[in-house]
Amino acid sequence: MIIAVDGPTASGKGTIAKALARHFGLPHLDTGLLYRAVGRQVEVDGGNPDDPADALAACAFPDALLADPDLRSEATGGLASRVSVHPGVRHALYERQRQFALQPGGAVLDGRDIGTVIAPEASAKLFVIASVAARAQRRFLEMQAQGREVSLAEIAADLEARDRRDRERAEAPLRAAPDAVELDTSALGKEAAIALAIALVEKLTAKA
Ligand code: C5P
Repeated sequence: MIIAVDGPTASGKGTIAKALARHFGLPHLDTGLLYRAVGRQVEVDGGNPDDPADALAACAFPDALLADPDLRSEATGGLASRVSVHPGVRHALYERQRQFALQPGGAVLDGRDIGTVIAPEASAKLFVIASVAARAQRRFLEMQAQGREVSLAEIAADLEARDRRDRERAEAPLRAAPDAVELDTSALGKEAAIALAIALVEKLTAKA
């Protein structure tokens, strides 16, 4: 059973994917972390994230980098979104994601192109969305809890810039697969969103 969870930044897809993995007893891969590691490695190498050759060289990041808590920062998210437009980077990260999806017993992967490119044969595809206002508010509360001072307007502008880049890139743009089910978490709390996702996956996999 392969479960694909795609959607924009701060839509709730990561939380939902982790909960689905727990519920169905499957391993989970946050594919955004791979792009974040490439973005961070370009920075470490002193390269330019917009340069395809620099970004491709950074795909050889050491595995230990995936455990670095700095990967979760907004700044690294921005770098990830810049390196992820390069087709060479997407191809370099493809095999690792594909192998994870194909492991015996199945897997849950979350990202932007799981249902369209990495695992088009997935038995359940969710496309998680939420309004910019709801997503910005969630990020704002998260950052406040970490004691970081950022305005709601700045966060919303950053989310919109990242969404635009992810949707408009030529290679594997963010879009729902034709057979994906949309889940709008704008008005849902965490537990309600998780319960709905589990119910949807149960329904989708029962049909398969
Ligand atoms: O999901 P997360 O915010 O960690 O992803 C960071 C960035 O990595 C995204 O904005 C997107 O540009 C890129 N990404 C991608 N394809 C994926 C996962 C992430 O292009 N499957």
